[in-house]
Amino acid sequence: MIKGSPEMPDDFPLLKRYVEQTLKIQCSSYKEDYIKRRFLSRMRSTNTTSYGEYLRYVRAHPAELEPLRNALTINVTEFFRDKEVFDCIRTTIIPTIFARRKRIWIWCAGCSTGEEPYSLAMILADMMAQNKELSGQITATDIDEVVLAKAKTGIFAENIVKKLRNTQIQRHFTLLPSGDYEVKQQVKDLIRFRPHDLMSGVPPVRFLDLITCRNVTIYFTENQKDLLARMFHSALSHEGFYVMGKTEYLGKQVDGLFTPFDTAHKIFIKSPQP
Ligand SMILES: C[S@@+](CC[C@H](N)C(=O)[O-])C[C@H]1O[C@@H](n2cnc3c(N)ncnc32)[C@H](O)[C@@H]1O
Repeated sequence: MIKGSPEMPDDFPLLKRYVEQTLKIQCSSYKEDYIKRRFLSRMRSTNTTSYGEYLRYVRAHPAELEPLRNALTINVTEFFRDKEVFDCIRTTIIPTIFARRKRIWIWCAGCSTGEEPYSLAMILADMMAQNKELSGQITATDIDEVVLAKAKTGIFAENIVKKLRNTQIQRHFTLLPSGDYEVKQQVKDLIRFRPHDLMSGVPPVRFLDLITCRNVTIYFTENQKDLLARMFHSALSHEGFYVMGKTEYLGKQVDGLFTPFDTAHKIFIKSPQP
């Protein structure tokens, strides 16, 4: 039995308040059960057995704040997350690929509720509207079938969509009677959502021009990250692009597999097989 859950719930509100004040994450915006499961996963990792003990641990070990933040925001995503990275994808990477061939193949790995692949699909749809010869397909995968089911609907709450520019909303979304927004069919048609475990070692698609795998590997061991980089290398076409999250990095064992293209934005190009 884990003390403090749910038999001894007394310290749970204290821990929640500490997180809200320290990490500025509004725990009350989430279902209580979700928050408890995330705390329990950190308690297992820190060998603490009650909410109170974990609270004492995190106070004494500030380094625990970052894994705790990540545990709480595990599926967090947003449209055009890190705008400058998507600006580079729109202005440089995708035009470079389209200069090579008229059809682009993209894998968005760890896509969560879909904001990242829909952002890529909106970029493609805008380019395809300008040039009818262009086409593309995005395979979007995640291990979590709950977020994938949400992603497939293409329906997003107003507060999420309102962060986009009005012109983007008008071009790519339909306002529903509920007040939510649904991605238009021609944008949805560019994406195939599929369940996939990045630890499986086998890519769901190959001969790719671009892989985005952003803000996913935070819990992966160094060895798992290296295996992932090898899998991405094998799944990319000659000189294909690999975009990581801003706080992620390539391990020393595998950095020869990729050549930096834009270091600040963590964008790499596949190197020839060493
Ligand atoms: C923080 S979200 C990142 C979403 C998006 N890429 C972004 O940057 O906004 C991380 C996603 O990675 C997924 N994930 C974690 N481990 C995975 C694995 N082994 N295989 C596939 N997806 C995984 C999670 O389910 C979650 O939806």
